[in-house]
Amino acid sequence: MFRRAGKKGETSEVESTHNVFAPSGLLEVLDALREGIQVLDFDFRYVYVNAAVIGHGKRGREELIGRTMEECYPGIEQTETFAFLRACMLERKIAARRNEFTYPDGSRSVFELRIQPCPIGVVVLSIDVTEETRLSNQLAQAQKMDALGRLAGGVAHDFNNLLTIILSGAELARERLDDKEIVRGELESIIESAQKASHLTGQLLAFSRGRDPKIEPLNINLCVQQFEPILQRILGRAVKSEIDLASDLALVRMDSANVDQILLNLTVNARDAMDSGGILRIETRNVFVSEVEDGRPAALPFGHYVMLAITDTGSGIPTELRARIFEPFFTTKADRGTGLGLSIVFNVVQRAGGGIELLSEIGKGTSFRIYLPVDRGPAVQPAAELGGA
Ligand SMILES: Nc1ncnc2c1ncn2[C@@H]1O[C@H](COP(=O)(O)OP(=O)(O)OP(=O)(O)O)[C@@H](O)[C@H]1O
Ligand SMILES: [Mg+2]
Repeated sequence: MFRRAGKKGETSEVESTHNVFAPSGLLEVLDALREGIQVLDFDFRYVYVNAAVIGHGKRGREELIGRTMEECYPGIEQTETFAFLRACMLERKIAARRNEFTYPDGSRSVFELRIQPCPIGVVVLSIDVTEETRLSNQLAQAQKMDALGRLAGGVAHDFNNLLTIILSGAELARERLDDKEIVRGELESIIESAQKASHLTGQLLAFSRGRDPKIEPLNINLCVQQFEPILQRILGRAVKSEIDLASDLALVRMDSANVDQILLNLTVNARDAMDSGGILRIETRNVFVSEVEDGRPAALPFGHYVMLAITDTGSGIPTELRARIFEPFFTTKADRGTGLGLSIVFNVVQRAGGGIELLSEIGKGTSFRIYLPVDRGPAVQPAAELGGA
């Protein structure tokens, strides 16, 4: 015997609420579903529950039917899910929500709830997504570990480049202790490189703690200027540098540590390509990428970009290798190279929404042109939308 749904206090007995709605054949079909179906009246009294709901709630049908949710689950009226259900009931709106449910024994299940108004109250469809949620959490964690591994590899790689500069600077200073100017110059470059290294490890720590990198409006010219003191140490005596910066350069949105990674990797590669000397050129320009211009990185949306070009007069890159050089661990430098440099540059540029253009001629040299989208400033939100759901 069950109590029929009705106003609070008013109870009339019916043969079985379980078949108030439909012939038993249909009820059997509903009981065979994996999805839970429950009908609640305006007082949040259970009018109908299928077998899956009984499994989900670990309560018998006779414990639920005719009783309110508060009676069945004391304290439920304090929960966010109940407030949500009440809002759907009052506003007569269709809504969906994920609900985590803790059983008296402490075990937890996650349900996807779909709430739909009906003439006598609401119908709630519940799908048990505990297993899917566990798997997707596991996957997210694995992806984070994978990303952390890659980032750690990248940071270690760039850190090593900086250590090389620091060590060679320290050795040079030790040899020339008598010349104050040289020692001062070397010390400046050691300090500069050590600061960049500490900024880099800061990025790794920020990632492992789940914080975002420091992305802010940035003038690439400033990064190039700060990089100049260590540039000559990277290049050595045989390679000359030329720097040509656009005076009215637009800002981009990036973490300056990422621009350092681009400059460091591309200049180290350029030096490696100019064994017997040459010229390295760093250039910045404002450019507009449009449909008609050829040669710009494929798939880059039209618009305004800052271009940072690093050009050498080195060996050039054979056509058949050009598609592979951005792959992680691809190197032609045998035991000297890890093959991580360009893949780091590629990732950093991708994350910034930019693109890379590669121009190279065997025996003449190579130019990497990095396109970074211009910072449009903070998006302006109309006042009416602020605070909206
Ligand atoms: N400026 C360049 N001129 C000629 N070849 C280049 C140039 N830049 C990159 N390459 C080629 O691309 C390959 C991959 O470069 P990448 O920076 O990813 O790794 P790597 O320089 O070999 O190793 P690492 O960066 O660890 O020292 C290089 O081995 C080289 O063959
Ligand atoms: Mg490299």
